[in-house]
Amino acid sequence: MNTKALLQSYTLPCGVMIKNRIAKAAMTERLANKKQEVTKELIHLYDHWANNGAGLLITGNIMVDARYKEASANIVLEDEKGVSKLSEMIKAGTKNDTQLWAQINHAGRQASIFSTFKPIAPSAIQLKKLMLFAKPKAMNVEQIKDVENRFVNTAILSKKAGFTGVQIHAAHGYLLSQFLSPKTNQRTDNHGGSIQNRARLLFDIVKRVREELGENYPISVKLNSADFQRGGFNEEDALYVIKKLESLQIDLLEISGGTYENIIFLTQRYQRESTKQREAYFLDFAKKIRKETALPMMVTGGFRSHAFCNQVLENKELEMIGFARPFLVDKDFPKQFLKDEQAKVDDATFNFKIKKMKDFAEAGFYDYQIHQLAKGKELKPDYNPYLAVLRLTTNELRKGWF
Ligand SMILES: Cc1cc2nc3c(=O)[nH]c(=O)nc-3n(C[C@H](O)[C@H](O)[C@H](O)COP(=O)(O)O)c2cc1C
Repeated sequence: MNTKALLQSYTLPCGVMIKNRIAKAAMTERLANKKQEVTKELIHLYDHWANNGAGLLITGNIMVDARYKEASANIVLEDEKGVSKLSEMIKAGTKNDTQLWAQINHAGRQASIFSTFKPIAPSAIQLKKLMLFAKPKAMNVEQIKDVENRFVNTAILSKKAGFTGVQIHAAHGYLLSQFLSPKTNQRTDNHGGSIQNRARLLFDIVKRVREELGENYPISVKLNSADFQRGGFNEEDALYVIKKLESLQIDLLEISGGTYENIIFLTQRYQRESTKQREAYFLDFAKKIRKETALPMMVTGGFRSHAFCNQVLENKELEMIGFARPFLVDKDFPKQFLKDEQAKVDDATFNFKIKKMKDFAEAGFYDYQIHQLAKGKELKPDYNPYLAVLRLTTNELRKGWF
């Protein structure tokens, strides 16, 4: 077996080369200032990551509309003002020939009450989780067009700011994913009903972003293989969307799964025996669609050993491997992982008894680790998960309301 697969470069359909097969998947940093602009912590964080060897870094979600953020301290990129502020972070994150792509997003009904009491969504269906989300208003046609324009605008500004690529977030239950799912999209106009209609907004955005950014610029879409909800977006829907995305000439499809109702992209290891046996989540789905599409693919979720990643690349199951939490468990990931065939990175283990809030504790725990890295401090694997929940909530409250 060629054990060097992880180290090989990959050239995307648009012609841009990624120096190796490891990508840092998007992780919300929650480090912007009150004006939703870049801080010195963000610059330090991307400087640190660009020094550690990953071929591709995808930012945490950057919001296309300040009114509907995923978290209070998200970066928002709506106008030229944001462009100049981002340049230092981009300069740091593109060192050593590192690709740095902006993940762009709109939270829709998953904008928490710390962000807004008046969220918008395809239909007025509330997310009922820990009383953190208000009932959304169903969007009218003008609002849908406005969202389309905003995604295109933020993509243009991202390129202008110097990001070397852009990723449109259509997974994890955020607005575009809400449109895709029949559970959250019960519209009766031409944005609801069939998968053709539910995917219309995503396709319109991707088409225009390609037109605006040109054929040589990397465009990626993050998509759920399924929502893992009864009556939600399923694998058949995903296959339809993927084939169409191929015809719209995207460069990299990132596959994930789940929404806030079932955060399977974070918690699958607690849930499925089959996943415990096979390291990665969603890989079986990727194998299925491999027969149907030539789109370059990346799966994120659960990859933890060099040998397994290498094997997946060798078998041509994927072109890129996405990692998130390993970057927060091993401070210098993937420096060692890239060259050591025996390398393995374990998930943090922590004891948290409140089942309903386990995903919240996990998010809080890793949020804390990101902030440690960003301040140039050591990671704390023994950080108390109950404290993590308290800290995350207090931060959201403080930054969102005060
Ligand atoms: C702290 C944290 C923040 C995250 N933020 C985002 C995000 O902004 N956008 C996104 O698409 N996924 C986000 N994710 C999900 C990851 O990109 C990834 O899909 C998931 O963690 C599974 O990969 P892993 O097993 O390698 O951690 C986040 C995950 C974590 C742990």
